[in-house]
Amino acid sequence: EWTMGNVIEEQVEAIRAKVGNRRAICGLSGGVDSAVAAALVQKAIGPQLTCVYVDHGLMRKGETAQVEKDFVAATGIKLRVVDAEKRFLDALAGVSDPEQKRKIIGREFIRVFEQAQAEIVAEAPGDQPVEFLVQGTLYPDVVESGGGTGTANIKSHHNVGGLPEDLEFTLIEPLRQLFKDEVRMVGAELGLPEEIVHRQPFPGPGLGIRIVGEVTKDRLDLLREADAIAREELTAAGLDRDIWQCPVVLLAEVRSVGVQGDGRTYGHPVVLRPVSSEDAMTADWSRLPYETLARISTRITNEVAEVNRVVLDVTSKPPGTIEWE
Ligand code: XMP
Repeated sequence: EWTMGNVIEEQVEAIRAKVGNRRAICGLSGGVDSAVAAALVQKAIGPQLTCVYVDHGLMRKGETAQVEKDFVAATGIKLRVVDAEKRFLDALAGVSDPEQKRKIIGREFIRVFEQAQAEIVAEAPGDQPVEFLVQGTLYPDVVESGGGTGTANIKSHHNVGGLPEDLEFTLIEPLRQLFKDEVRMVGAELGLPEEIVHRQPFPGPGLGIRIVGEVTKDRLDLLREADAIAREELTAAGLDRDIWQCPVVLLAEVRSVGVQGDGRTYGHPVVLRPVSSEDAMTADWSRLPYETLARISTRITNEVAEVNRVVLDVTSKPPGTIEWE
């Protein structure tokens, strides 16, 4: 029988058998998938697991603080936070191609995990080796990265097609057969709080794949502000559960003429991409209320000086993917 309780039991047993008395690390992204994967593995091997949160500088506003606070409070998990902003931004300098960005981000994630692995071993050298890396890969990630059954490669998800060839970890991917709604059920069954279980999806490569063009610190700061405003207004309007997610995308290499304050501006547009979906394999654009769109637009153009236009993406998936890159 296929119940979430059974899925958990089966996975816990499989993880214990695979790991034995060795150790594992788990990359936490702040999203649902990695949180549920971590909670599941913790249930299986307890203190043999250390979670690693990589602050790659591509996070949304407030994200790092939230993971440090909420997730640890909910699970009591061992957490290391690695400040890797410089490393990621240096690696991404000069890169505009979406697949190249994804590969670089995937590679840098692994390098940071390897470093964390070395540190954990150095701190407790007598212990068992840190051999396993837990990832919150879902079934749709596998399919759309070309790892599924004869499906074309659409995007290299940072935790599937984006992994380096010389990976030294053995992967544990306990959610690999599940869809997002099932992952949420597993999370609830494991006792994770609402705020984590019902968080909207956020991609591992973060805002790095929501800047069309080169990723720079200035552009990230700007997009972070715009994104925070959109999220705030969607929450205030009570729409969080109605939409699947709403990426805000910065068209960093497009400029248009505007008039703001006392004069002419030549700024960038941001795109709102609100979508409704069951599993992210297909999606429809969300018919958000005009008043909410108006508030978001007014606030972004008032509060984020470099943005002088807000546009709405009215494309389904297919033909458009949810993220722009
Ligand atoms: P697309 O853009 O492919 O996105 O329609 C489908 C869903 O997957 C999320 N997404 C990712 N999640 N790592 C992730 O963990 C990734 O590399 C990645 N790329 C896209 C996206 O936000 C949407 O929910």
